[in-house]
Amino acid sequence: MESTPAPPLLTPHKMGQFDLSHRVVLAPLTRQRSYGNVPQPHAGVYYAQRATKGGLLIAEATGVSDTAQGYKDAPGVWTKEQIDAWKPVVDAVHAKGALFFCQIWHAGRVSNYKLQPNGQAPISSTDKQVSPQMSADGRLEEFSPPRRLAKDEIPNVVDDFREAARNAIAAVGFDGVEIHGAYSYIIEQFLKDSANDRTDEYGG
Ligand SMILES: Cc1cc2nc3c(=O)[nH]c(=O)nc-3n(C[C@H](O)[C@H](O)[C@H](O)COP(=O)(O)O)c2cc1C
Repeated sequence: MESTPAPPLLTPHKMGQFDLSHRVVLAPLTRQRSYGNVPQPHAGVYYAQRATKGGLLIAEATGVSDTAQGYKDAPGVWTKEQIDAWKPVVDAVHAKGALFFCQIWHAGRVSNYKLQPNGQAPISSTDKQVSPQMSADGRLEEFSPPRRLAKDEIPNVVDDFREAARNAIAAVGFDGVEIHGAYSYIIEQFLKDSANDRTDEYGG
Protein backbone atom coordinates (compact mmCIF):
# COMPACT_ATOMS: atom_id res chain seq x y z
CA MET A 1 0.00 0.00 0.00
CA GLU A 2 1.34 3.46 -0.92
CA SER A 3 1.72 5.87 1.97
CA THR A 4 0.48 9.45 1.63
CA PRO A 5 3.43 11.85 1.36
CA ALA A 6 3.78 14.32 4.25
CA PRO A 7 2.49 17.83 3.48
CA PRO A 8 5.54 19.93 2.46
CA LEU A 9 5.09 22.21 5.50
CA LEU A 10 5.69 19.23 7.73
CA THR A 11 8.87 18.03 6.03
CA PRO A 12 12.36 18.67 7.46
CA HIS A 13 14.46 21.62 6.33
CA LYS A 14 18.14 22.41 6.73
CA MET A 15 18.49 26.10 7.58
CA GLY A 16 22.22 26.83 7.60
CA GLN A 17 23.61 24.98 10.59
CA PHE A 18 20.13 24.17 11.93
CA ASP A 19 18.07 21.06 11.21
CA LEU A 20 14.39 21.89 11.41
CA SER A 21 11.95 19.00 11.66
CA HIS A 22 9.22 21.05 9.91
CA ARG A 23 8.72 24.45 8.28
CA VAL A 24 6.08 26.05 10.46
CA VAL A 25 7.78 29.04 12.08
CA LEU A 26 6.35 31.28 14.78
CA ALA A 27 6.46 34.82 13.31
CA PRO A 28 7.74 37.58 15.56
CA LEU A 29 4.75 39.20 17.27
CA THR A 30 5.04 42.24 19.50
CA ARG A 31 3.15 41.49 22.71
CA GLN A 32 3.79 44.54 24.93
CA ARG A 33 3.78 42.48 28.08
CA SER A 34 7.40 43.00 29.11
CA TYR A 35 6.73 45.52 31.82
CA GLY A 36 9.47 48.15 32.01
CA ASN A 37 11.04 46.46 28.94
CA VAL A 38 11.86 43.35 31.01
CA PRO A 39 10.50 39.95 29.83
CA GLN A 40 8.15 38.44 32.40
CA PRO A 41 7.85 34.77 33.48
CA HIS A 42 4.57 34.40 31.53
CA ALA A 43 6.59 34.89 28.31
CA GLY A 44 8.10 31.46 29.01
CA VAL A 45 4.63 29.93 29.13
CA TYR A 46 3.57 31.75 25.93
CA TYR A 47 6.60 30.69 23.90
CA ALA A 48 6.84 27.13 25.28
CA GLN A 49 3.17 26.59 24.35
CA ARG A 50 4.14 27.37 20.74
CA ALA A 51 7.34 25.28 20.71
CA THR A 52 7.62 21.88 19.02
CA LYS A 53 10.56 19.51 18.71
CA GLY A 54 12.74 20.75 15.85
CA GLY A 55 10.54 23.81 15.24
CA LEU A 56 11.68 27.44 15.03
CA LEU A 57 10.28 30.37 16.98
CA ILE A 58 11.20 34.00 16.45
CA ALA A 59 10.69 36.17 19.51
CA GLU A 60 8.92 39.50 19.43
CA ALA A 61 10.84 42.63 18.40
CA THR A 62 13.38 43.26 21.16
CA GLY A 63 15.08 46.61 21.68
CA VAL A 64 18.85 46.92 21.25
CA SER A 65 19.20 49.99 23.49
CA ASP A 66 17.29 52.49 25.58
CA THR A 67 16.62 54.63 22.47
CA ALA A 68 15.25 51.67 20.49
CA GLN A 69 11.75 51.40 21.90
CA GLY A 70 8.73 52.17 19.75
CA TYR A 71 6.06 50.51 21.87
CA LYS A 72 5.41 50.55 25.60
CA ASP A 73 6.41 47.36 27.42
CA ALA A 74 8.24 45.78 24.48
CA PRO A 75 11.23 43.77 25.75
CA GLY A 76 14.88 44.70 25.46
CA VAL A 77 18.17 42.83 25.54
CA TRP A 78 20.59 45.58 26.52
CA THR A 79 20.63 45.34 30.35
CA LYS A 80 21.67 42.54 32.71
CA GLU A 81 18.15 42.46 34.16
CA GLN A 82 16.70 41.87 30.68
CA ILE A 83 19.31 39.21 29.88
CA ASP A 84 18.60 37.39 33.14
CA ALA A 85 14.85 37.61 32.52
CA TRP A 86 15.16 36.13 29.01
CA LYS A 87 17.15 33.08 30.18
CA PRO A 88 14.25 31.07 31.69
CA VAL A 89 12.10 31.98 28.68
CA VAL A 90 14.69 30.54 26.30
CA ASP A 91 15.25 27.53 28.58
CA ALA A 92 11.50 26.77 28.49
CA VAL A 93 11.54 26.75 24.67
CA HIS A 94 14.70 24.64 24.52
CA ALA A 95 13.16 22.16 26.96
CA LYS A 96 10.52 21.49 24.29
CA GLY A 97 13.27 20.85 21.70
CA ALA A 98 12.66 23.97 19.60
CA LEU A 99 15.07 26.56 18.24
CA PHE A 100 14.58 30.15 19.33
CA PHE A 101 15.81 33.32 17.61
CA CYS A 102 15.65 36.79 19.11
CA GLN A 103 14.48 39.56 16.80
CA ILE A 104 16.65 42.60 17.52
CA TRP A 105 15.17 45.98 16.76
CA HIS A 106 15.48 49.75 16.81
CA ALA A 107 12.32 51.75 16.05
CA GLY A 108 14.14 54.97 15.16
CA ARG A 109 11.57 57.71 14.56
CA VAL A 110 8.60 55.37 14.99
CA SER A 111 8.66 56.35 18.65
CA ASN A 112 7.62 58.93 21.13
CA TYR A 113 9.27 61.17 23.74
CA LYS A 114 7.51 59.12 26.43
CA LEU A 115 9.43 55.99 25.40
CA GLN A 116 12.81 57.71 25.24
CA PRO A 117 15.45 58.18 27.96
CA ASN A 118 14.96 61.58 29.64
CA GLY A 119 12.11 62.31 27.23
CA GLN A 120 14.57 63.05 24.44
CA ALA A 121 13.72 63.07 20.73
CA PRO A 122 13.74 59.65 19.02
CA ILE A 123 16.81 59.21 16.81
CA SER A 124 16.61 58.69 13.05
CA SER A 125 18.04 59.49 9.62
CA THR A 126 15.79 62.56 9.47
CA ASP A 127 14.08 65.18 11.60
CA LYS A 128 10.81 64.62 9.74
CA GLN A 129 8.06 63.27 11.97
CA VAL A 130 6.00 60.17 11.12
CA SER A 131 2.29 60.92 10.60
CA PRO A 132 -0.06 59.57 13.28
CA GLN A 133 -1.19 56.00 12.60
CA MET A 134 -4.05 53.83 13.79
CA SER A 135 -2.70 51.15 16.14
CA ALA A 136 -3.76 47.48 15.96
CA ASP A 137 -6.20 48.08 18.83
CA GLY A 138 -7.82 51.11 17.20
CA ARG A 139 -6.04 53.97 19.00
CA LEU A 140 -4.48 56.88 17.13
CA GLU A 141 -0.75 56.57 17.73
CA GLU A 142 1.30 59.80 17.73
CA PHE A 143 5.03 59.94 16.99
CA SER A 144 7.37 62.67 18.21
CA PRO A 145 9.62 64.78 15.96
CA PRO A 146 12.90 62.83 15.68
CA ARG A 147 16.48 64.06 15.76
CA ARG A 148 18.66 63.14 12.79
CA LEU A 149 21.89 61.44 13.80
CA ALA A 150 25.22 63.03 12.96
CA LYS A 151 27.56 60.84 10.95
CA ASP A 152 29.81 60.09 13.92
CA GLU A 153 26.83 58.87 15.99
CA ILE A 154 25.77 56.16 13.54
CA PRO A 155 28.47 53.62 14.53
CA ASN A 156 27.11 53.71 18.09
CA VAL A 157 23.78 52.37 16.85
CA VAL A 158 25.54 49.69 14.79
CA ASP A 159 27.43 48.74 17.95
CA ASP A 160 24.14 48.54 19.86
CA PHE A 161 22.95 45.91 17.34
CA ARG A 162 26.26 44.04 17.73
CA GLU A 163 26.07 44.10 21.50
CA ALA A 164 22.40 43.06 21.51
CA ALA A 165 23.21 40.10 19.21
CA ARG A 166 26.02 39.05 21.54
CA ASN A 167 23.79 39.43 24.57
CA ALA A 168 21.02 37.40 22.94
CA ILE A 169 23.21 34.53 21.74
CA ALA A 170 26.18 34.37 24.13
CA ALA A 171 24.61 35.67 27.33
CA VAL A 172 20.98 34.55 27.10
CA GLY A 173 21.34 31.40 24.96
CA PHE A 174 19.14 32.21 21.95
CA ASP A 175 20.12 30.11 18.89
CA GLY A 176 20.38 33.15 16.66
CA VAL A 177 19.06 36.62 15.97
CA GLU A 178 16.94 38.15 13.27
CA ILE A 179 17.63 41.81 12.54
CA HIS A 180 14.28 43.57 12.25
CA GLY A 181 14.73 45.53 9.04
CA ALA A 182 11.16 46.03 7.93
CA TYR A 183 8.16 48.19 8.84
CA SER A 184 9.90 51.57 8.50
CA TYR A 185 12.09 51.13 11.55
CA ILE A 186 15.60 52.59 11.82
CA ILE A 187 17.28 50.46 9.15
CA GLU A 188 14.60 51.29 6.57
CA GLN A 189 14.71 54.93 7.61
CA PHE A 190 18.36 55.04 6.55
CA LEU A 191 17.80 52.95 3.39
CA LYS A 192 14.80 54.79 1.95
CA ASP A 193 15.05 58.19 0.25
CA SER A 194 11.55 58.99 1.49
CA ALA A 195 12.85 58.95 5.06
CA ASN A 196 16.55 59.63 4.62
CA ASP A 197 16.95 63.31 3.75
CA ARG A 198 20.45 63.61 5.15
CA THR A 199 22.67 66.01 3.23
CA ASP A 200 26.44 66.00 2.70
CA GLU A 201 26.69 68.13 5.81
CA TYR A 202 25.60 65.03 7.73
CA GLY A 203 27.67 62.65 5.66
CA GLY A 204 25.04 61.70 3.05
C1 LIG B 1 0.09 42.28 16.75
C2 LIG B 1 1.22 42.07 15.77
C3 LIG B 1 2.51 42.24 16.19
C4 LIG B 1 3.57 42.05 15.30
N1 LIG B 1 4.86 42.18 15.74
C5 LIG B 1 5.88 41.99 14.90
C6 LIG B 1 7.22 42.08 15.37
O1 LIG B 1 7.49 42.30 16.55
N2 LIG B 1 8.21 41.88 14.45
C7 LIG B 1 7.93 41.60 13.12
O2 LIG B 1 8.87 41.44 12.33
N3 LIG B 1 6.69 41.48 12.69
C8 LIG B 1 5.66 41.68 13.54
N4 LIG B 1 4.39 41.53 13.08
C9 LIG B 1 4.17 41.04 11.71
C10 LIG B 1 3.93 39.52 11.72
O3 LIG B 1 5.08 38.82 12.21
C11 LIG B 1 3.63 38.98 10.31
O4 LIG B 1 4.72 39.19 9.47
C12 LIG B 1 2.46 39.67 9.72
O5 LIG B 1 1.37 39.55 10.62
C13 LIG B 1 2.09 39.08 8.34
O6 LIG B 1 1.95 37.70 8.46
P1 LIG B 1 1.02 36.91 7.45
O7 LIG B 1 1.56 37.24 6.08
O8 LIG B 1 1.21 35.47 7.82
O9 LIG B 1 -0.35 37.43 7.70
C14 LIG B 1 3.32 41.71 13.93
C15 LIG B 1 1.99 41.54 13.52
C16 LIG B 1 0.96 41.71 14.40
C17 LIG B 1 -0.45 41.52 13.91
